Amino acid sequence: MNILAIETSCDETAVAVLKTSKGSFTILGESLYSQASKHAEYGGVYPNLAKREHQENLPRIFEAAYTQAGTPALDMVVVTAGPGLEPALWQGIEFAKKIALEHGIPVYGVDHMEGHIVSGLVKKNEHTYTLNTVKFPILALLISGGHTELVLMRDWFQYELIGRTRDDAVGEAYDKVARIMGLPYPGGPEIDRAARASRERGIPNPHTLPRPMLHEPSCDFSFSGLKTAVLYKVRDHGNLSEEDRGHIAQAFEDAVRDVVGAKVRRALLETGAKTLAVGGGVSANNYIRSGLQALVDAEFPDTTLNYPDRSLSGDNAIMIGIAAALRHEHGMLKEKPLSANGSQHLA
Ligand code: KG4
Ligand code: ZN
Repeated sequence: MNILAIETSCDETAVAVLKTSKGSFTILGESLYSQASKHAEYGGVYPNLAKREHQENLPRIFEAAYTQAGTPALDMVVVTAGPGLEPALWQGIEFAKKIALEHGIPVYGVDHMEGHIVSGLVKKNEHTYTLNTVKFPILALLISGGHTELVLMRDWFQYELIGRTRDDAVGEAYDKVARIMGLPYPGGPEIDRAARASRERGIPNPHTLPRPMLHEPSCDFSFSGLKTAVLYKVRDHGNLSEEDRGHIAQAFEDAVRDVVGAKVRRALLETGAKTLAVGGGVSANNYIRSGLQALVDAEFPDTTLNYPDRSLSGDNAIMIGIAAALRHEHGMLKEKPLSANGSQHLA
């Protein structure tokens, strides 16, 4: 089956052409344009700018991916329907409908978070992603700019929400903390770099930060207090040197790693999940990854930890195509009126 996949939920305009068969997804063509640098001056994603940028860039991004694929006959178009920024989502949906009409093929909506979940369940080899042997139940830890959730999948696409953030998402906290320290958007990779450099310098860290809800008996998260603690620290401190920034970034990552680890531990104990799949932009972070790996190795020897390949940790169209293909394989790709739903929810 040849699938054209489109993703425009946030600030990445992405199109991929996948050739799929059972559990195997070969990328025939792919093109991704990140608007991040354009949003940087606003310090975050500016929805109307995202919409304009998607509208302007979708035709050439599609052409690039489809031409690279060798303009194959397509069987379906799939597009992110939510969650995300509605004006941005609509651009992808309208474009998907137009292509589907031109090619006389069906168009289906895909959940963006489902895309992040399946990205953690495949392995990449050259241009082909193959589904890992996964054991149910699967616990998905979704850590992105818009979401922080623990979702249980007892069987394919049967979701149960185990925990979620009560305020900011982890990625959002990374972005806000970076902004407070004068680092550019997107802040996740900036904090990642600053903290890593500081750990390598090895100077004892004078800063510690709170770990919100660490001991609360639930799998919910909260990150806004952590962000505020950084704000006060920076305000009291005055001018930050490179070393100060590194230390605060390090203290922030220590707090995030502890909280995420504690909530994952609780969720694994409560659910007995056999697979832990991490997805979303923050899953690119090595410090968070190694913390989770250490937890699983030490306490959950019967659970397998799955990460997305680097190519799938941030927003992309490949994961949307893989999610649709897997749904199709399980007879669960539903034809329903296609509309953008900014706050769409899995469970
Ligand atoms: O999944 P994603 O690309 O978009 C959303 O669906 O939100 O996630 C983007 C988020 C941003 O907040 C970004 O700062 C964060 O992922 N991020 C990181 C890293 N790379 C991206 N956070 C921590 N460490 C990273 N290396
Ligand atoms: Zn995302």
